[in-house]
Amino acid sequence: MKIVRTIAELRAQLRGQLRTAFVPTMGNLHEGHLSLMRLAARHGDPVVASIFVNRLQFAPHEDFDKYPRTFQEDCDKLERENVYVLFAPDERELYPEPQEFRVRPPADLGDILEGEFRPGFFSGVCTVVLKLFNCVGPMAAVFGRKDYQQLMIVRRMTQQFALPCEIIAAPTIRENDGLAMSSRNRYLTPTERAEAPRLHRVLREVESRVAGGIADIATIEADATAALVAAGWQPDYVAVRRRSDLKPPSAADLTAAEPLVTLAAARLGATRLIDNLEIER
Ligand code: PAF
Repeated sequence: MKIVRTIAELRAQLRGQLRTAFVPTMGNLHEGHLSLMRLAARHGDPVVASIFVNRLQFAPHEDFDKYPRTFQEDCDKLERENVYVLFAPDERELYPEPQEFRVRPPADLGDILEGEFRPGFFSGVCTVVLKLFNCVGPMAAVFGRKDYQQLMIVRRMTQQFALPCEIIAAPTIRENDGLAMSSRNRYLTPTERAEAPRLHRVLREVESRVAGGIADIATIEADATAALVAAGWQPDYVAVRRRSDLKPPSAADLTAAEPLVTLAAARLGATRLIDNLEIER
């Protein structure tokens, strides 16, 4: 695997490659990320990964400085996945001057759910993803369903800017007890780690109540939130939304079998976890 630090080197390395499949990451790679690399290999060749902890998507009080950085271990893992190029720029390379031009997702998609609790987050994500796409020039790029809203926003951005890149959605990879894999899981204490799968269990309960035909979504969301609070969590939201646009379902949507998803974000101690589940009904 070639480790490339500059945009010029990256472009030279990928010159003439028309079928590149790209996986952007912030590093601290786990099995979930590696599954994205494998999926990328089914959608293009060569596979290019990036590692860049993107300051633009962190609020000042968030964990940018303590975000786990495990570069050598990450390289070893990517090498084993036959990644062709790892693009790992530093901040001066990707943001040589303040990044004043930004991509701002529409408020009805970017300022709800995660965007409500992390203002500016999706603008930071879109800006870096667009820039990385311009550097890599991928034919396909893989994003995990674990970050459901991010996937949807990146997909819309790609469509609206007519970027010549197919966005591939990868399934969420879970630990045996149901906890969705995330780089932030490593912040959990052993007691919190034992408690953490509750988030997935609560979403499954939401799914089974909605799938069972209970139409009172507000009560289902409130019960799920209360179950987390009772177990010591601080939930930001537990929501049932339409898969198509993440808007709350209307009464007609519920009877018309509109595809739905349930999404949650909650803090356990100092760690904020997110998860989601597409509702099968
Ligand atoms: O999902 C992530 O790891 C990040 O948001 C991404 C897409 C790499 C952009 O920094």
